[in-house]
Amino acid sequence: MEVAQGNPRRGKRVGLLAKSVENWFKIAGRELPWRQNRTPYGTLVSEAMLQQTQVARVSPAWKAFLEHFPTVDALARARQDQVLAAWKGLGYYRRARNLQAAASVIVEEYFGKIPSDRLSLEKLPGIGPYCAGAIASIAFGKREAIVDGNVARVMMRIHGRNVDGESRTGKAWLWNRARDYVTESRNPAVANEGLMELGAMVCTPISPKCGECPVRKICGAYTAGKQNQIPRPRRRAVRSLLHANAFLASVNGRSALVRRPKFGLWSSLMFPPTIESPNVISRKVLAQRLGVDAKALSARGFFTFLTTHRLVRFRLWNVDEASARNLKNAQKKSWTWHTPRAVEKLSITSAMREIYEQADAHENAKAQARKIRSKKGSMKARKSGVK
Ligand code: ADE
Repeated sequence: MEVAQGNPRRGKRVGLLAKSVENWFKIAGRELPWRQNRTPYGTLVSEAMLQQTQVARVSPAWKAFLEHFPTVDALARARQDQVLAAWKGLGYYRRARNLQAAASVIVEEYFGKIPSDRLSLEKLPGIGPYCAGAIASIAFGKREAIVDGNVARVMMRIHGRNVDGESRTGKAWLWNRARDYVTESRNPAVANEGLMELGAMVCTPISPKCGECPVRKICGAYTAGKQNQIPRPRRRAVRSLLHANAFLASVNGRSALVRRPKFGLWSSLMFPPTIESPNVISRKVLAQRLGVDAKALSARGFFTFLTTHRLVRFRLWNVDEASARNLKNAQKKSWTWHTPRAVEKLSITSAMREIYEQADAHENAKAQARKIRSKKGSMKARKSGVK
């Protein structure tokens, strides 16, 4: 399609941008499960999931989630641990808790019908300006703007302008461009979703596929050859270092878990008991804190785990069974004991999975080393004639 060159900021050119993106999306948009039969509830769930998780992970989780909780009402009535379990693999579990809280508000205040206006949507737990705009436009066809990471990048490149998306003026500029855009669109749902799709599939942060772009001729960054400088590459935020000592304890085949605090990392989830600090803590001190003998703790491996804001150095410790049985009262109260089947049913974060995998790998490596040692030992014995 032939499109005009230059700055598309106003009127006709913005209209051309919207028209081109809408046409492109109808042909090139991915077939995703929530796009097949659009419902407001399906959109609420997909947008909550897509906020921090990639489409490839969201697709199977979205289907399963809707099978478990097919309506707003079913979600509002469900037990929280079931909702968290259905969120497995998506991370950022606060979104699941917020989504359920939003479902309760929708049931109580809106008779189970998801509101279609931005203001009401923004009042729901966990729904910010982006999500409210996405639901209002995509599910209800409202002429509401959206700005997420994809939209921000596309807008900066199209307008050939670097703005700081974190600053007040940068945000205002992006929202104004997004409003101009949706105002000029024929179909706000298609235009908005198409813009996000363009950002996700073509106008990517690194190595954008300008050759495939339906709007490259009106793209300021492309015409100036600056698609790799707009947006300005960001320096990675510095992550703070946290040392986490995780204890693997089991008594009669049941493993110890604790419920994490309501705020902070992996909030409110069940997790192996940990002692966390900004510094390394010695085995002796860890043992003192648990109220066990230092000999009761044996190392079971270590690994580093990255979260958005932290670098977590995990050290894993086995607590021997006799000591685990006699843990001090303080631990007894907070540590709870679970069968392997019960653990499997929990919403397991990737950090928790890594703990178990590393601990297993450590055990396997130790068993392997023992085997090699005993083989060497028997070979030596054979050579020296010992039977
Ligand atoms: N990211 C968030 N919501 C999206 C959507 N509906 N389509 C494509 N990418 C998205």
